Amino acid sequence: MAILVTGGLGYIGSHTVVELLNNGFDVVIVDDLSNSERFILKNIEEITGKKPVFYPFDLKRKELLNQVFEAHQIDGCINFAAYKAVGESQEKPIDYYENNLFSLINILQEFKARDISNFIFSSSCTVYGQADVMPIDENTPLKMPESVYGKTKQMGEEILIDFAKAYQRKISLLRYFNPIGAHPTAKIGELPVGVPYNLVPYVMQTAAGVREKLNIWGNDYPTVDGTAVRDYIYVVDLAKAHVAALKRLMEMEPEKTVIDTYNLGTGKGSSVLEVVKAFERANNVEIPYQICERREGDITIAYANADKAERELNWKSETSLEDALKTTWEWQKYLDSRN
Ligand code: UFG
Repeated sequence: MAILVTGGLGYIGSHTVVELLNNGFDVVIVDDLSNSERFILKNIEEITGKKPVFYPFDLKRKELLNQVFEAHQIDGCINFAAYKAVGESQEKPIDYYENNLFSLINILQEFKARDISNFIFSSSCTVYGQADVMPIDENTPLKMPESVYGKTKQMGEEILIDFAKAYQRKISLLRYFNPIGAHPTAKIGELPVGVPYNLVPYVMQTAAGVREKLNIWGNDYPTVDGTAVRDYIYVVDLAKAHVAALKRLMEMEPEKTVIDTYNLGTGKGSSVLEVVKAFERANNVEIPYQICERREGDITIAYANADKAERELNWKSETSLEDALKTTWEWQKYLDSRN
């Protein structure tokens, strides 16, 4: 019995593979390396002392995916494989729909054909858009996201719900808030690809001198200091939630429709300036910044009510913002040491 982890060499995927291996699961990774590198696999092995099975291919290749299901007794899947660059998704919508949705459907065809249940989907708080009430719980009405990336997440959820209902399967939709940080060993983390879109990778590169200064997108929001507020969750805490969600599904009787939905965040909002200050304090570095116009499509504020995950998964975020930001910096130093 093994768990298929698609995108298992990516940022959240690799941290989740480590937690799965540490919890005694056998893991089969499919990752096309479009947003990762082979040394991540080697480092996962170093961290855990275990060797997951690895297949480097694109999940749109149905025949290769079929061979994986033929070769292994797959008992569940955690699906991370997806394109995730918000800006790019607007320029290449069809590529995003094709990649993010066809790969999902191909896995579900195998699940359907083989009576496999237990599917965990990487979703995002982007499905709530700008919610009217904070904190955001799972009953908050969904709004179709502005970005194509966000739409693929919302459509992915809908596809899975229909799948679970029609074929009596168990699924869990995990809506992440803003994942940050790297593994405490600094051997895995988010690999830099071009100019970072997200805040913490940009702050990290500014601290390292790769970027001259951080652009803060807007300081005229109705928030504590005018900068936008988000819920920054440590990636290892997030990875642990996947194991908890998977165990919960696996413990439930088979041939049952289960549709779990969890918001995964810390429950605490932090402004952009608060993140910058926390990074400076945690790592004793200075982050030069300038205030710029608001970024198009940004919301003002989002933070989670994660009580449901605590109640049902016995999970909660444990790591402070500063501690998470320390691991970010250690990871940057590790990347520098490789160059
Ligand atoms: N920010 C800056 N400067 C930067 C980068 C970000 O000021 O260089 C600000 C943003 O304007 C925002 C905050 O930092 O206010 C957080 O931005 P991120 O890009 O890190 O995160 P977002 O909340 O905008 O993005 C998240 C997820 C996406 C998802 C999106 C939907 O990372 O996957 O929410 O809104 F699509």
